[in-house]
Amino acid sequence: MAILFSSKTDDPEPWRAALAAHFEDLDFRVWPDDGGDPADVEFALVWAQKEGALKHYPNLRAIFSLGAGVEHILRDSDLPAGVPIVRLVDAQLTRDMTEYVLAWVLYYHRDHHRYRAQQAARQWRALPPVVAADRQVGILGLGELGRASASALAGLGFRVRGWSRTAKEIEGVACFDGAGGLGEFLDGVEILVCLLPLTPETRGIVDGALLAALPAGACFINAARGGHMVAADLVAALASGHIAGATLDVFEPEPLPAADPLWSHPGVNVTPHVASITYHKTAAAEIVEDIRRIRDGGRARHVVDPAKGY
Ligand code: NAP
Ligand code: GLV
Repeated sequence: MAILFSSKTDDPEPWRAALAAHFEDLDFRVWPDDGGDPADVEFALVWAQKEGALKHYPNLRAIFSLGAGVEHILRDSDLPAGVPIVRLVDAQLTRDMTEYVLAWVLYYHRDHHRYRAQQAARQWRALPPVVAADRQVGILGLGELGRASASALAGLGFRVRGWSRTAKEIEGVACFDGAGGLGEFLDGVEILVCLLPLTPETRGIVDGALLAALPAGACFINAARGGHMVAADLVAALASGHIAGATLDVFEPEPLPAADPLWSHPGVNVTPHVASITYHKTAAAEIVEDIRRIRDGGRARHVVDPAKGY
């Protein structure tokens, strides 16, 4: 069975080994030096493939994303028609994202951003504590990742609310949906976490107006995509003091250019797109399961809707 691997950033070798453990007849081809007859290729594992590259494989049965997001696949305006695109849903990916979100929510909840500034000024001053039950956290996006983070935060006793496109019911989480529900969702959110997919509808959603709808002193954590955030608006909101801190894992472009002022902004923590890194062993097992389903005449489990963009 021929599988094409195409990624500028991921090492193909661990994937080759992980898939070879499941398929004795594996013919693993790495784009662009993939050799052999393109007509043999049944499945593609990709991250940001070259525009039009996948059209050269006439018998593709599915395109698997190497991560949860699929905007890096859908930006290709020359995709082969009718081939399902499958996003990655993997319990390890979800656990790692939950850890990242918990770590930074707790950082802001326990005023570490303020103590850091006080330390720089050699200032010994205890700030009035706020208990989790009085802290309002909001999650933009209640999918695989957002829902898990929301539930974990609710489990720690936070007041949690979440926002999605369609209505949800999650124990311990106040759920809001649709464009009409966004304003009510934002009201009173002191720590805002973005876990949306990047689509035409969500691009630039975290702009000056959205940040202004948060209470003064709110903090923002972006673990989704750089394109969700209007960076200039965030910098302005930090400068005015309305936003007290931001933790950013994702940027446009990536890597964040060395000259970008976000690197040295005192109110900003930068991480290099590591909130949840695909772990090839568990991810390959999910992809193998879907390949088996497709070869048995079924469907992959997490096929995206190109019209929605996720
Ligand atoms: P998902 O399961 O597809 O969930 C997406 C959520 O966003 C859903 O709740 C969806 O609403 C909501 N949504 C989409 N468009 C919306 C809109 N216009 N208005 C309101 N809500 C909207 O995705 P996921 O697996 O949780 O992943 C989310 C994103 O995290 C990925 O797309 C990726 O960009 C990012 N990510 C980042 C990292 C990292 O390391 N930084 C790692 C993994 C993933 P419905 O439920 O109603 O459909
Ligand atoms: C990482 O950013 C992913 O989409 O999994």
